[in-house]
Parts: sequence; structure tokens; C-alpha cells
Amino acid sequence: MRHVLGLSADGAFLGLSWGSEEVEVRLDIDTLVRHHIAVLGVTGSGKSYTCAVMVEELLERGVPVVIIDPHGEYLTLSAPNDSPSELAELRRLGLEPRGYPVRALSPPCALARGGALTLRLSEVAPEGLAEMCNMTDVQEDLLFLAMRRMRGDRLRDLEVAIEAVADRYGFRDVTLAAIRRRLTVLGELGLLGPGFRPEDAVEPGVATIIDLSADMPERARRVLVGHVLAKLFEARKRGDVPPLLVVVEEAHRFAPQAESTYSKTVMRRIAREGRKFGIGLCVASQRVVGLDKDVLSQCGTKVLMRIDSVTDLNFIAPMLEHSCHDEVKRLPYLPVGTALVTGIALRYPLLVRVRPRKSKHGGAGVSVLPAS
Ligand SMILES: Nc1ncnc2c1ncn2[C@@H]1O[C@H](COP(=O)(O)OP(=O)(O)OP(=O)(O)O)[C@@H](O)[C@H]1O
Ligand SMILES: [Mg+2]
Repeated sequence: MRHVLGLSADGAFLGLSWGSEEVEVRLDIDTLVRHHIAVLGVTGSGKSYTCAVMVEELLERGVPVVIIDPHGEYLTLSAPNDSPSELAELRRLGLEPRGYPVRALSPPCALARGGALTLRLSEVAPEGLAEMCNMTDVQEDLLFLAMRRMRGDRLRDLEVAIEAVADRYGFRDVTLAAIRRRLTVLGELGLLGPGFRPEDAVEPGVATIIDLSADMPERARRVLVGHVLAKLFEARKRGDVPPLLVVVEEAHRFAPQAESTYSKTVMRRIAREGRKFGIGLCVASQRVVGLDKDVLSQCGTKVLMRIDSVTDLNFIAPMLEHSCHDEVKRLPYLPVGTALVTGIALRYPLLVRVRPRKSKHGGAGVSVLPAS
């Protein structure tokens, strides 16, 4: 049966198939990572939980994982699962609860939660910096020219270069004044520093959590994500870090369909070329239509959880194999923690009851009822 379905004997154990016959669903790790993964479904359908199950499987095989975590909900990966009902099911499957090695990186404004995640001014792409500072095209031109000429890494070094460029190329005083104001705001965000080093974030068997739950403008969050992903991609191209998987939670915020953002440019590049360089992308989103179609169409494995909006279903259906069309009709009725898995890692689409996590889940919602 396993052979017919194209399942791998020692692959990532996602759960049991849902249907008349229970088969252990194990997906080939190399195929999963190299061809990228999309995990889609309505809020509360089990996307983050499923991503964490895949992360556990990769970590156990020594694959490094970097997680872009806008809610700081993956930090509990370090603790064993303590939910009695999930523990019973875990043991029925012959598995034991455990925690995993975790490293947290967060911007200086949230230093209490981990190591400092900073931007080194001279390393940030001008388009990223311009987006972060909400610059106009003219201001971005001036910034671009100045960044190529700046000597040093301090904001002051950039200001000096901007003044020289403005003078040399005749930019107007209002442009210079506006860009100076924006750089002051940039300084106030407190994100500049020695910079992000991929070598510190990628370690076999360790999950590095880029915790972006701190209060900051969404533009800054996006540019941080774009920068981290760009640095990881470059480091992989140079072979400075081992092959890895990057999980991007709330992927529609960083690769939105309707807007052009620096982070989307970088995510598209990884989706297109990551396979060649050993950097896999796992995107999770509840906004199927809101997620960039280019990124989504590059995901060789699709893990579809409950999706009930007609717009979302109509959007996703043409991206799936023909053999999937009957199963797609079941998507609005899938229970929590159940997924339709389809794509390159399987010969046929399969409904899977995702296994319980070995580590503790951090993404539980909050009850609205007063505690009794
Ligand atoms: N495979 C599973 N086994 C047991 N419980 C699960 C499973 N998947 C999900 N759950 C339960 O469902 C809840 C919601 O799951 P999860 O946090 O993954 O949702 P989500 O799809 O990521 O939602 P959001 O879009 O709001 O982030 C979890 O807190 C957990 O209790
Ligand atoms: Mg989630």
C-alpha cells in the first residue's frame, strides 16, 4: 500500500491516512524540502501545528530549520508536549514526548526574549531600507546612490554620503530634508546594529526562531524578514551554512499577492531557485487568495487543511493535480488537524490525520469564557 501511494519508508512521519485503511504517511525529506511546501487553511485548522510536526521530523534528522514566527508561538518547541489527550495518542503511535534545541532571535526592542536580531546598515538592500522608511522613488534613488558610496556602518556615515550625493547630482533640498527625517525615524526604531549572521542561525538539528512578535511597524517586520531570508539564501549559495528549511508563518504578510514588497521579491527568488541551492521554503497562510501566486505555485507539496471560502477553493483548485478534484470538495468539512496532502511527495493525494506533536504547541487560542 505504502509503495502504491509513493510513500517513503523512512521519511517524515506526518500522521496516519484518513479513510478505510490506516497507513503511516511518511514523506521523503529531500523531496519535501527541495520542492517547497505550502500549508493552507482557515484559522484554527491546524496549520502551525502541522508545520511544527514537520519541523520536529526534520530536526530529528539533523536538518536545520529557521522559523519566521510573527506570533512567537514556536518557542514552546523546546518543551515536551504535556496535553494528556495528545500524549495518549502519541503513545498509541509508539512515540514519546520531547523538546528540541531552540535558539530565539528577536529584535533589540524585544531583547528579553532572545538574542538580538539587528540590521547592519551597509548590508541592507537599498530597496528594503527605502520600504522600511516609506521613501518616494526620488528619495530611493538618492539612497541607492548614497549606499554605494557610504564608508562605515553608522547612520551618520549614510547621512554624510547622502549629503555628498545630493550635492553632486543636484537633488533638491526638500528631498534631502525628507530623507534626513526618515533616517531619524529609522534610528528610533532601534533595529540597527552588528547585523544578522546566517552562521549563527543555521545549525544541524536546531530550530532558530526569528521571533517577530514585538511591537513594531509592519513595514519594519517585512524588511527584517526579507533581509534574513536574503542573507540565508546568499549564505547557502556560498555554501557557508548547511542545507536548511525556512518556515514562513503568516506568509501572506511577507509575500502578499496585491503589493510589491522586498520580502516578496526574496521569497519568490527562494521559491524559484532554492531547490538548486538546498534552501527549502514552507509557507503557512490562512489567506489563500492573499498569498503571492508565484510563491504558491512553486510549492511542490500542498498541505490543505479546512478551507471553506468559495473564492479560496476556486483559486486553489486549478493549482492541484487533476486526481485531486474529488478530494477538494471535502476541504470545507475537514476536522481540525486533518489535511489533504498532495503534490510531488506523494503519488496520489491523501487525507492525513496529522500526528500529535512531541513538543508543546504554543499557538492555542484563548477561550472567551471567564475561567471557572
Ligand atoms: N494534529 C493535531 N492534533 C491535535 N490537535 C491539533 C492538531 N492540529 C491542530 N490541533 C489543535 O487545533 C488548535 C489550532 O491549531 P493551530 O494553532 O495549528 O491553528 P492554525 O491553523 O495555525 O491557526 P491560525 O491561522 O489562527 O494561526 C491547536 O491549538 C491544537 O489544539
Ligand atoms: Mg497558526
